[in-house]
Amino acid sequence: MDKIKIIGGKPLFGKVYISGAKNTALPIICATLLSDEPSTLRNLPILSDIKSLNLLLEQIGTEISGKQEELNGHNTQSFTYHTPQPKSLVAPYDYVRKMRASYYVLGPLLTKYKHVELSLPGGCAIGARPMDIHLSSLEQMGAHIEIKNGYVIADVEERLKGANITFHSASVGATCNILMAAVLAQGTTVIENAAREPEIADLISMLCKMGAKIEGADTSTLTIHGVDKLHGVTHEIINDRIEAGSYAVAAAMTHGRLELVNANPDHLQLPLDILRKTGAKVEITPNSIIVDAQNCELVGTDIYTDYYPGFPTDLQAQFMALMCVAKGAAMVTENIWENRFMHIPELMRMGANINVHGHASAIVRGVEKLSGAPVMSTDLRASFALVLAGLVAEGETIVNRVYHLDRGYETLEEKFKAVGADIERIKESDV
Ligand code: EPZ
Repeated sequence: MDKIKIIGGKPLFGKVYISGAKNTALPIICATLLSDEPSTLRNLPILSDIKSLNLLLEQIGTEISGKQEELNGHNTQSFTYHTPQPKSLVAPYDYVRKMRASYYVLGPLLTKYKHVELSLPGGCAIGARPMDIHLSSLEQMGAHIEIKNGYVIADVEERLKGANITFHSASVGATCNILMAAVLAQGTTVIENAAREPEIADLISMLCKMGAKIEGADTSTLTIHGVDKLHGVTHEIINDRIEAGSYAVAAAMTHGRLELVNANPDHLQLPLDILRKTGAKVEITPNSIIVDAQNCELVGTDIYTDYYPGFPTDLQAQFMALMCVAKGAAMVTENIWENRFMHIPELMRMGANINVHGHASAIVRGVEKLSGAPVMSTDLRASFALVLAGLVAEGETIVNRVYHLDRGYETLEEKFKAVGADIERIKESDV
């Protein structure tokens, strides 16, 4: 397995181009299954999760062609997806276990082709990750669902039917899946307590271009009037707010100045407020966010993760890394996932002072210095937090299990190197 080696202590200066959003791309790629016509998606990030989902779609029968293109000043990829007739309606275990977002084929295949078999993804490092909302909502829309041999087997006789559905949690995944199911259902579906993340708004924008009728984008009540057919479109994916937030922390922690080109500040209001509270300067330009922490003292600031527009759980680990070297104490509370503190023991190996209270809160008391150490990635965002800690630690840090980072951060070492970090990938073949 590849590793990342970092020698800490260099402030970062320059521009980081923010890539297309992984968590938007994944449902939107699956939304292309809703039409027999081809759709082209631009600004797709170059990530292993996109590759994995493309492999799954190819085994379903999607023809995929891609090209690299320069967009908004940096290198991106665009793919055209065309599924004239699927050859399989099964999402096998080997695909789903590698990437749980494979479950986004559930809504589109069921509503369009009346049958789908999806391996249940199971839990992962950050929590149990149930799918009860996805499944009970489809049942309310008339689907017959059976769990057999680790698979969800879903059928519907004619068409899914519109229903009034209230989610018990504002789940991003369930909102995407039920939106995609409802656009081709018979009648009107109303989702109450829908997720409001920018990823949802982008999916709605793509579905409406395809001919779907959806009201309530950006609100927690979505009304979907089912239509008979959708057509192919070209759609540009929004930029990744979590990647932008992660590099914003890198600028602050290293006491440098980074311009995050193509980042959307509207999607990051609370994280940017927290950065300002820590003492960093945040400037908004027409196409970028500039974070400047030269000559400033960082002070500990509390974080409480919540559903959007609350503070994103996907930035909790990175902000915790920052609090490890900020002055004073910060309380970090994780409300979305029951096991998302796996980075704490690794940060403590680097000298962080953190006390965990129960399983949802931690007090971080800032220390003068972290010291480099070999550490272990546990999930995508935790891995970035360890890279951040390595960037400010004294000496050498080796981050193991880099495949987590490759799932969600495009060309991470190149982006960091370009702004002055001493970072390199040690390939498994080099060891
Ligand atoms: C998405 O996961 C993201 N993944 C996650 O990002 C992110 O942490 C999460 O949303 C929350 O923002 C993708 O978009 C691919 P949820 P998702 O369904 O959709 C409970 C990353 O690092 N729930 O919104 O799986 C659940 O237990 C990843 O990029 C149910 O109870 O998350 C959790 O407490 C990690 N029943 C809460 O809802 C269900 O049926 C939110 O989960 C579904 C969810």
